[in-house]
Amino acid sequence: MNLVAQYTPSISGEILCPGDKSISQRAVIIGSLLNEDIEISGFLNGEDPISTANALNAIGSSIKINGTSVSIKKRDIPFKDPSVNVDLGNSGTGMRLMMGLISSLGIKATLVGDESLTKRPMLRVANPLNDMGAIVTCNEGKPPVKILDGLIKDNFFYEMPIASAQVKSSIILAALAANKKVTVIEKHPTRNHTERMISYFNGDIHTESHHLGNKITLMPSKLIPTKTYEVAGDFSSASFLIVAGLIAKESNLLIKNVGLNPTRCGLISVLRSMGAKIEIKNERLISNEEVGDIDIVSSELHGIVISGDIIPNIIDEIPIISIAASFAEGETLITEAEELRVKESDRLQAISDGLQKINIHHELFHDGIKIIGSSEDISVMAEIDSHGDHRIAMSFLIASLRSKKGIYVEDCKNILTSFPNFIEVMSSIGIAINER
Ligand code: S3P
Repeated sequence: MNLVAQYTPSISGEILCPGDKSISQRAVIIGSLLNEDIEISGFLNGEDPISTANALNAIGSSIKINGTSVSIKKRDIPFKDPSVNVDLGNSGTGMRLMMGLISSLGIKATLVGDESLTKRPMLRVANPLNDMGAIVTCNEGKPPVKILDGLIKDNFFYEMPIASAQVKSSIILAALAANKKVTVIEKHPTRNHTERMISYFNGDIHTESHHLGNKITLMPSKLIPTKTYEVAGDFSSASFLIVAGLIAKESNLLIKNVGLNPTRCGLISVLRSMGAKIEIKNERLISNEEVGDIDIVSSELHGIVISGDIIPNIIDEIPIISIAASFAEGETLITEAEELRVKESDRLQAISDGLQKINIHHELFHDGIKIIGSSEDISVMAEIDSHGDHRIAMSFLIASLRSKKGIYVEDCKNILTSFPNFIEVMSSIGIAINER
């Protein structure tokens, strides 16, 4: 699917933020472990959460998705070996979290994914799981991932060599499902939705500061189910709208019900340091996650330096930050973001390729990028390759707000993994995006 976005200098409207992808995936995984009837609302009906739900059903869960509502029924039988390979599609989170869960269920499974997922590193999860007592093998470190019936040890201690919420969550889920104690040290804080959800269901998990960073300890826990769980809006999806509102010549946007977990919304402080006018209203807690409404008006941005501890917090937002930086006066320097090389695409390369096509000066490094922005509109009609990556596709489509000849992006089908109603939402605020 190739998309064209028309030049749109002025946008306005009120938008309801789509459900959070990370939380939706955790909700079906932990919801299946609870093994009681539970209703989930605000679920992201996107391809990634759907493939995770299908994977859970393949091992014996009983999950039914109806739009943004999900019901999980109590199982009468234990989890079982799936009859075929379990397909996690494009979802790194789905595969890595399911590796942790399946490792301690006493079942055997082979996990596969699409072309992009098949290139992504899995040893970061397989190695610690094997050290925990699981039996997990990969194909030269990548999917397919084969899991056999292992025995998870008690009191496993793991110091994470990389900042990754997926690795942390996979280990925690393995211990949770095996009813064992685990301790994980993370040097740089990463999103903590797994910890928050376990705590919401009364699991004994706590995070304390440690001389190396955060120390997360899960004690053997029998979770106490609630009848309902409400998924917060996805801050990463909202980030496209936030930047759209900032770079548009004239704008007035209100995005409602946006997840504001402090481990996720570092983009707000980054953009404010660039000069953004962003106001947060109506802050509240739903299912142990902060949410609020975000008000944005167009703002004159300037470049800044972005590196260090904030990087894991904004890791999924760097593609759209690159677009904000392209229309900000001066230089924006992003470093220590090497992880972007192993996301759904090599995102640093994909950002650089796209910026080159629209004549934005920049310099690419192994772990980051320097972008020399300008408040001038651009006037080129280029064919941008999304590299099959949803966040690259959406980021460049947003650049149409400042591209007099519009923007054309190839291979946008994976927008369906995280923001299935992106085109409709954009149209509701005045941005026309069509297939070509
Ligand atoms: C996610 C964690 C992040 C993020 C991904 C979702 C999660 O990946 O990039 O989109 O749901 O745990 P890493 O944990 O590998 O950095």
